[in-house]
Amino acid sequence: MPWFDRDVQFNHYGPDRLPFGCTGASGLVQRFVELSGDDAGRAFDVLDASGGYGSACLGAGPEVIATAMADAVRTAGYVTDEIASAERALLLERLFAPGGLFADRFPAADYRVSGRNSGSEGMELALRLVLESRFDHRRLRAVPGAEERDVVLGFEGAWHGWSGGLLPLMNRRHYRIGLPSVDPERFGFRTEHIPFGDPDAAREWFASNGGRVLAVVVEPIQGDAGILTPPEGYLRELAALAKESGALLVADEVLTFAKTGRFFAMTDERGAIPTDVTVIGKSLGMGAVSTSMVIARRELGVRPTGTVSTSDLRPLTCAVIRAGLEHIVAEGLLERSATVGGRLGELLRDRLVADFPDLYREARGTGLIHGVELTDHAAANLGELRSTMIRNGVYVEFMSGAGRRSHGLRYLNATMRVAPPLVSTVDDVEAIAARLTDGSHAVRKTTS
Ligand SMILES: Cc1ncc(COP(=O)(O)O)c(C=O)c1O
Repeated sequence: MPWFDRDVQFNHYGPDRLPFGCTGASGLVQRFVELSGDDAGRAFDVLDASGGYGSACLGAGPEVIATAMADAVRTAGYVTDEIASAERALLLERLFAPGGLFADRFPAADYRVSGRNSGSEGMELALRLVLESRFDHRRLRAVPGAEERDVVLGFEGAWHGWSGGLLPLMNRRHYRIGLPSVDPERFGFRTEHIPFGDPDAAREWFASNGGRVLAVVVEPIQGDAGILTPPEGYLRELAALAKESGALLVADEVLTFAKTGRFFAMTDERGAIPTDVTVIGKSLGMGAVSTSMVIARRELGVRPTGTVSTSDLRPLTCAVIRAGLEHIVAEGLLERSATVGGRLGELLRDRLVADFPDLYREARGTGLIHGVELTDHAAANLGELRSTMIRNGVYVEFMSGAGRRSHGLRYLNATMRVAPPLVSTVDDVEAIAARLTDGSHAVRKTTS
């Protein structure tokens, strides 16, 4: 096979681009082939412990999605959100009507929802909702006094996607006024970042900046920073601090959706932690469509026609989401993933961190989202580590780490993300851990 795509598609990965191709997949097994070197052409199977950047929660080729998709293509129609759709209504009712899957947290009386094509687009819409909350849509000017709120608070190590900056290019006053533009003085906003998971730093920041904060944007478990789970009580306190200071709370659950043994990670022993906007993505598309959902309090909105999107909750997308979520519920996959994930965490601690202190510092995580923090030595040999794991039959991803951190939090090194699909069984995670162990022995040999 000529692998023509490698030359034609943008290379976002630089010289470390992985020398492998994929010829197909089924369940957790991906069929890979070596593309270069003496072994070029060698085919081998790889167990998926990444879910395609955390998006393929049902693994490859789930029959339930194939059937739903084929049926929807044939029968569901393709109306945009200008026209009500029976398929869309079925999904939204299943999620938000009384007794719906998300209704305890987001009752339809209090929240509305919009669909986007990706996590980044979902987060863009969340930011728009935040910015437009201080703008009078009818008079096309700031709500008196609201301009003083000009800070969006984020967290060190945060990751919310790539995008933005398109607005200034739009040559239509109606859509641009009230939003940041080439004139940074009017309607602008600044971002500030505080350490994640440190309640004292949050209290301190709000005590001196509370009056200026427009919104707080948080990942309940920081993904790209290295799978960081905040201490108990932190997220609820953050929600309270935001509320007391009159700021909106935006939860970025693009990555965490359906990965922590429950649908939402903004949860503690008292139940749902209230948010003003929640964005979910990745697993929501069941590995078959790229989609996200922005769930926002009813009082939040944008100017009429301000964020129309061609693919906002198209019937096909809704059919895929509904079939996938029904399957997850019917099979008890969330509950099972909590148990399977518990075993995965043990294996990562006992087989990797304990036996390879030269390569790994710590394993942490919950449900089916785990991180194994690398030592400086392993991080310096990242390319070798990635390829060796794949050649030993397991696909994991590597996060870049949070970068420089403040307030006494230690610097985070690169982290290996182990986040197999929701359909993984205990046998699967045992096999994943065994292959990670084999890979670690091989890396130790080649890099010591
Ligand atoms: C927490 C979080 N938010 C947003 C995004 C962006 O999502 P997408 O890649 O679908 O645009 C990601 C992607 O990795 C993410 O991890």
